[in-house]
Amino acid sequence: MRITTNTVAVVTGGASGLGAATAAALAEAGARVTLFDLDEARGAAHAKALGGSFQRVDVSDPASVAAGFAAVEAAGAGLHILVNCAGIGPAAKTTSRGQPHDPAVFARTIGINLIGSFYCASQAATLMVRGEPVSADGERGVIVNTASVAAYDGQVGQVAYAASKGGIVGMTLPMARDLADKGVRVMTIAPGLFLTPLLEGLPQEVQDSLGTQVPFPSRLGDPSEYAALALHIVGNPMLNGEVIRLDGAIRMAPR
Ligand SMILES: NC(=O)c1ccc[n+]([C@@H]2O[C@H](COP(=O)([O-])OP(=O)(O)OC[C@H]3O[C@@H](n4cnc5c(N)ncnc54)[C@H](O)[C@@H]3O)[C@@H](O)[C@H]2O)c1
Repeated sequence: MRITTNTVAVVTGGASGLGAATAAALAEAGARVTLFDLDEARGAAHAKALGGSFQRVDVSDPASVAAGFAAVEAAGAGLHILVNCAGIGPAAKTTSRGQPHDPAVFARTIGINLIGSFYCASQAATLMVRGEPVSADGERGVIVNTASVAAYDGQVGQVAYAASKGGIVGMTLPMARDLADKGVRVMTIAPGLFLTPLLEGLPQEVQDSLGTQVPFPSRLGDPSEYAALALHIVGNPMLNGEVIRLDGAIRMAPR
């Protein structure tokens, strides 16, 4: 679909990193953007800078997600785009130092990354299908999820994270099939290594070393490159039900 000033978008995790860059690109293209995030200070400041709005939403809590989308609905302009970027990436092995993986950490990772993406997608789709088609193809909405290359080549310590991202890969096609007759497309981006606050905290030499593991271009990805793909997906109606790796050809080693 073409982004116009009538286009309404929600970006989860929009206060930081890939979500913040995507929200900025959507706003730049003319869309009215609402950020959903737990981080109220950064989220509200970024929303203000974009001329958008902010809702404090915990994506792992269906009532919180419902309240966020109720606010979007109350604005009265519908909903056309959801980009799911909220996520966490804890590190823990299946068993370590004689102790099993903390079950709460595993559940929380699945709860935010996988179930949270699903809650947002399902509630967003419910709003999208109430709207009128916005293209000659009959498109009503586009949902972009964020997996990770860890869905395919998860490293030591990424068992919970990789499981959550593998779940996002697995739900992409059936969700696209569920929504096909409603004119809502569903795509997933599986990023490699991107320079976001997640990695900015690492020492420069570690960042450089991670960058050299990328075959080409041999550097960390810039969040604007993720945003550019998200916007391309929105604009290209033939992209549906698929996962795109955005990774400079990296295949992660076991550790
Ligand atoms: N940066 C990378 O290299 C990379 C690689 C592969 C996948 N990803 C994925 O991309 C997404 C964005 O990552 P990022 O690097 O921009 O991370 P980030 O930490 O910069 O941003 C994530 C945002 O999600 C928010 N968030 C966390 N839990 C939430 C919850 N329960 N409800 C609402 N918001 C919540 C955080 O407050 C934060 O603003 C994540 O799903 C991550 O797994 C990132």
